[in-house]
Amino acid sequence: MSTASRGQWSGRLGFILAAAGSAIGLGNIWRFPYMAGENGGGAFVLLYLGCVLLIGIPVLFSELAMGRKTERNAVGAFRALVPNSWWPAVGYLGIAAGFGILAFYSVVAGWTLGYLGHAFMGDFGAAMDADASGALFTGLIGDPLQAVGYTALFLLLTILIVRGGVSAGIERASKILMPALFAILLVLAIRALTLPGGMAGLEYLLVPDFSELSAGAVMAALGQALFSLSLGMGAMVTYGSYFPKEENMPQAGALVALADTSVAVLAGLIMFPALFSAGLDPAAGPGLVFVVLPTVFNSLPAGTLFAIAFYALLAIAALTSTISLLEVVVAYFVDERKWKREKAAWVLGGVCFVLAVPSALSQGGADVFTSFLFDTSFLDIQNIIWGNYALSIGALATCVFVGWKWGIPKAIEALEASGHRMAFASAWGIVVRFVLPIAIVVVLGFIVSTGRYF
Ligand code: TRP
Repeated sequence: MSTASRGQWSGRLGFILAAAGSAIGLGNIWRFPYMAGENGGGAFVLLYLGCVLLIGIPVLFSELAMGRKTERNAVGAFRALVPNSWWPAVGYLGIAAGFGILAFYSVVAGWTLGYLGHAFMGDFGAAMDADASGALFTGLIGDPLQAVGYTALFLLLTILIVRGGVSAGIERASKILMPALFAILLVLAIRALTLPGGMAGLEYLLVPDFSELSAGAVMAALGQALFSLSLGMGAMVTYGSYFPKEENMPQAGALVALADTSVAVLAGLIMFPALFSAGLDPAAGPGLVFVVLPTVFNSLPAGTLFAIAFYALLAIAALTSTISLLEVVVAYFVDERKWKREKAAWVLGGVCFVLAVPSALSQGGADVFTSFLFDTSFLDIQNIIWGNYALSIGALATCVFVGWKWGIPKAIEALEASGHRMAFASAWGIVVRFVLPIAIVVVLGFIVSTGRYF
């Protein structure tokens, strides 16, 4: 299919904004702080940064290279590079992971809409302590009607944009809103750091205590690095396939990784000082961010306005991520199965809603899903299975493919197709062929040997 009929980003900036929009989302602001809090703080943060550098960025470049070379979706890219092999199975795993992630991500994204509603009602303008904030949170997520309703609303917004195609919908949303989100996070970080007792949070975040470190924490850091950069399921293959021929791809990729990691660190700089100041437990789990932030807004001038702006931007950051999740699946059905984009968006978005219902009901709405397996809620289980394991296996398979089947020289050629050189190209090749596969296999091996999967 020609480039023109598939659509293309309007330039390098268009790609950076869209890819950063995909990467920056609830993964940075919701998932990163709670994973860090559950896994020992500073040591986890260091591990996470190590995983971004040594695993995330190399995987990002592998996916982008495949997308640019083939101009195809997650499955089609494998098929185009080695016809008649079982490699496209990696792409199918990616499609499944896209569904799996979207089906719980849209639930959490729905909560941001609920919080936006509360912000509009002025609920965050008055002083709110940790107990009141916790009650508001459990009230929202435990109410089946609200939980399912907001999930449906969020998926509807996602479908409406994906149906319009990538460059128009996704780029426009990212252009102004991502910088605005960054600015508001910066203000929140300054406020949180100056709260009484906030410095203890900073210390918790920055001073590593390696005695807390377990195989589970290493797995979580690996999964978080991949999740946050939208890797391991073909999203960046798909986004790379719309990358303009004449633009500098290695530099664009590096900027996306830098933007994403900065937002995660910034979110940590807000959450940990604020939660120590409010006397909350860092290991509180998935509710962490939602419970912590309302205790901060009222200490700001114009707290209500601030809360409205924050939740609106968070919802939009989540939307640019759900768009990319649905887009991976839609692109596959449009390219490979010749569906109309409109039909693909509605049908696949609808299927995803059905899959999301158990997660939406798992936070108090329905007992069966609340403590589904191993004392863990359905939503948490989805989060770990798809977010940590499926992405790790997908990333491993992608790198083995690029390093050993397609070949590093060809991948570098694709990355450098515009004539712009890629820095550290030979080091990247070594990492993709050796370091990264060994590292992921070792981490997965440790998990299997401890038998503690969740
Ligand atoms: N990276 C996004 C976030 O941090 C979530 C996301 C969007 C994603 N697309 C993805 C995760 C593809 C994995 C794969 O919120």
